[in-house]
Amino acid sequence: MATIIDGKKISGEIRNEIKAGVDELVAGGHRPPGLAVLLVGENPASMAYVRSKTRACAEVGFHSRQINRPASISEEGLLRLVQECNDDPEIHGILVQLPLPEHIDSQKIIEAIDPAKDVDGFHPVNAGRLMVGLPGFVPCTPAGIIEMLVRTGTETSGKHAVVLGRSNIVGKPIAQLLARKGRGGDCTVTIAHSRTRNIEEICQQADIIIAAIGRARFVKGSMIKPGAVIIDVGINRVEDENSEKGYRLVGDVDFDEAEKVAGAITPVPGGVGPMTIALLLRNTLESARASSGLPSSLR
Ligand SMILES: NC(=O)c1ccc[n+]([C@@H]2O[C@H](COP(=O)([O-])OP(=O)(O)OC[C@H]3O[C@@H](n4cnc5c(N)ncnc54)[C@H](OP(=O)(O)O)[C@@H]3O)[C@@H](O)[C@H]2O)c1
Repeated sequence: MATIIDGKKISGEIRNEIKAGVDELVAGGHRPPGLAVLLVGENPASMAYVRSKTRACAEVGFHSRQINRPASISEEGLLRLVQECNDDPEIHGILVQLPLPEHIDSQKIIEAIDPAKDVDGFHPVNAGRLMVGLPGFVPCTPAGIIEMLVRTGTETSGKHAVVLGRSNIVGKPIAQLLARKGRGGDCTVTIAHSRTRNIEEICQQADIIIAAIGRARFVKGSMIKPGAVIIDVGINRVEDENSEKGYRLVGDVDFDEAEKVAGAITPVPGGVGPMTIALLLRNTLESARASSGLPSSLR
């Protein structure tokens, strides 16, 4: 049976490190890290994500500001809010919760965020810096996956990693991180997507599978090489009449089948999800350190 990679436990360790980092910053006479979270509309999933981010901020001693606006806000109105946060010295990180209503161009909003406060790492400047191997904000979910691999002592060098999905948020950046030189990298990477042929055979060759496609239980046990490391990013609702809510969350991997074949696997929930929030906090702490003229605390 596979070892379960406990994202809650690892993210707890990171949060403790962040809390210590905040204490050090404040003891040095600097402002605590500040995160602004902009939420447009009332999408229940977005509201739940924002609540957990705001709670996480409070737990580590951050200053956080939740800015809620109705779905009817204009693009100009939202751009103005972003600009206010860019100009605010108490704010070191700006997060615009996606998706945005259709009348707002998400890319335009992302590009309005000061790259130095873009703790989600979605701004093209940060995406470009990752591409050429310069320091910058790395998107939180991929950064969290690398932390998980490193902190569980998973060897990545020379391994074949198959990334399922090519989104800007997960697939592309995790592929870059796994392929780059050094810590948690040096993999041979294959990126698969909806047009990929023979996806089953490609997965069977993987030492590491990163599943980020948003299809419930897509990766079956038969697609996994014995002993492979499986990182399940997917969050999918499936009906469950035994649950009070009428549904439950499952990943992109068929966990019950996969745990019989894999060497290690992340559960859903309790795997990648908590790591994403921990890395958001870490990016914000790094931003606050930089704005105080302090060096990065990252290895
Ligand atoms: N745990 C976390 O913190 C976290 C964070 C972010 C996302 N997620 C979850 O991760 C999943 C992916 O998110 P995302 O934002 O990357 O999704 P996305 O933007 O919808 O991208 C999905 C990707 O999967 C590919 N794909 C879809 N169906 C496929 C199939 N049958 N076979 C192969 N590839 C397929 C798509 O290919 P094409 O490009 O060809 O369309 C696309 O590249 C979602 O379930 C999301 O909820 C979790």
